[in-house]
Amino acid sequence: MFYPLVRKALFKLDAERAHELTFQQLRFISGTPLEMMIRQQVASRPVKCMGLTFKNGLGLAAGLDKNGECINAFAAMGFGFIEVGTVTPRPQAGNDKPRMFRLPEAEGIINRMGFNNLGVDHLVENVKKARFDGILGINVGKNKDTAVENGKDDYLICMEKVYAHAGYIAINISSPNTPGLRTLQYGEALDELLAAIKAKQGELEKRHLKYVPVAVKIAPDLSEEELVQIADSLVRHGIDGVIATNTTLDRSLVSGLKFSEEAGGLSGRPVQSRSTEVIRRLAVELNGRLPIIGVGGIDSLTSAREKIAAGATLVQIYSGFIYKGPPLIKEIVNHL
Ligand SMILES: Cc1cc2nc3c(=O)[nH]c(=O)nc-3n(C[C@H](O)[C@H](O)[C@H](O)COP(=O)(O)O)c2cc1C
Repeated sequence: MFYPLVRKALFKLDAERAHELTFQQLRFISGTPLEMMIRQQVASRPVKCMGLTFKNGLGLAAGLDKNGECINAFAAMGFGFIEVGTVTPRPQAGNDKPRMFRLPEAEGIINRMGFNNLGVDHLVENVKKARFDGILGINVGKNKDTAVENGKDDYLICMEKVYAHAGYIAINISSPNTPGLRTLQYGEALDELLAAIKAKQGELEKRHLKYVPVAVKIAPDLSEEELVQIADSLVRHGIDGVIATNTTLDRSLVSGLKFSEEAGGLSGRPVQSRSTEVIRRLAVELNGRLPIIGVGGIDSLTSAREKIAAGATLVQIYSGFIYKGPPLIKEIVNHL
């Protein structure tokens, strides 16, 4: 009853302005007794994945809380896990505004934010202050002004800094908004990156006396052959999980709609079936050797169940949460 009214007001504003205003409010109440205003009781439905026990199988996808500012608030809403970031070694402003567009007829969003974030040190400070007792994923990327050939170094710097504070680390090589980033998904570049990440994970495990799983986040715009190769690399390098998928460059399902020609990644309902297809294909290829975290267009219990049926162990939401609000969390968690 309540969220449709809030949404009506927010959707009158530019998409990023609405995001900023909401975050102002959430920052204000996050970690205070006012959290009860957004608290939702959800069923306890633990799920085991990557050697960890998640309170429930629904998480907040990366990119909404890039700096880890509202972890307590999202936890109060009932998410079983929260993925903060993408964060980069150094703070960066991201692309020029406007850079986020709603396509309400399709329940989609196009964004070309470009990893606007306050840097990994700032994120770690916020994480230390949070009181979340669930699993916190920290999603890391590379700065725009780091050459792709040196991109690996940025991932390793972030891993060093977040390792002690993360439930799992997500390696984002699939954002379409950092030039060249997606090339890290292929061939030798991928093998080299994964080998370095695995070596760093081993080193950090010894130093911190705890094993923090690493998951790699991939794009939906991969051919069958590319998916097979990625699955093979992930298994060979002993990566702990795969997050499928990020946003798509494909516009075929939104053609003709306002903003559909804006550059960036498309998310929400228009990516739903493609992302499920990627999960299905990956599941066949991986054959249980590593778990899949399914994300892309989940906007209902049914679409969450489709991701699980396709082979995902956990699911995440972003755009569906913007369109449906906190009630979607309850709908999914209580019945998944
Ligand atoms: C505005 C916006 C910003 C995003 N930023 C990130 C990001 O920083 N890192 C990342 O891994 N994914 C990012 N994503 C992708 C989401 O995490 C998710 O993979 C994608 O949107 C598909 O899920 P959805 O259809 O539920 O939104 C972003 C998505 C949106 C809409």
